[in-house]
Amino acid sequence: MKIFVINGPNLNLLGEREPEIYGNQTLPEIENIITEHAKKLNNVQIEFYQSNHEGEIIDALHSHRECDGIIINAGALTHSSTAISDALQSIDLPAIEVHLSNTNARSEEWRHHSYLSPVCWGVIMGFGHLSYTAALDLLYERLSR
Ligand code: DQA
Repeated sequence: MKIFVINGPNLNLLGEREPEIYGNQTLPEIENIITEHAKKLNNVQIEFYQSNHEGEIIDALHSHRECDGIIINAGALTHSSTAISDALQSIDLPAIEVHLSNTNARSEEWRHHSYLSPVCWGVIMGFGHLSYTAALDLLYERLSR
C-alpha cells in the first residue's frame, strides 16, 4: 500500500515557524514519526513531498496517481486553491486533509474555509503531528478492507 504525504507552503519552516501554533518539530522530524508509525502497519510505503508552489503540488498529485491514498496539508493553499481541489478530484484517490492547528479555531476568518474538504474523504485538524498519524491509520483501515 502506497501513501503519498504532501506538505504545502511554509511547512518546510516547521520548528522555527510560529512554534506556539505549529509546535517545535521540524518537517523531517514529523516525517520520521510518520515513517516509524507506518512500520507498525503491514506493508505500507510512504512517500513524502513538500513544495511552496501550487503548480508543483498539482504536478506531484498527477504523477502519484498510482498511489493508494493521499494525506495532504496544503498549508495556506487549503484556503485559496481551486486548482489543488480540482487535482484531488481528478486523480480520484482517497485523500485526507490534515492540519497541525485547528484552522476553525484560528482568529483569521479566511482560515475557516477549505477548498479541499469537499473533495477529501475526511479532515483531521488540531492534533499537531498526530493529525498525520491518525490520517495514516484511517487510510490504512479503509484500504485494507
Ligand atoms: C496549516 C493551517 C493553515 O491555515 C496555514 O496556512 C498553514 C498550516 C496547519 O497545518 O495548521 O500553513 O495547514
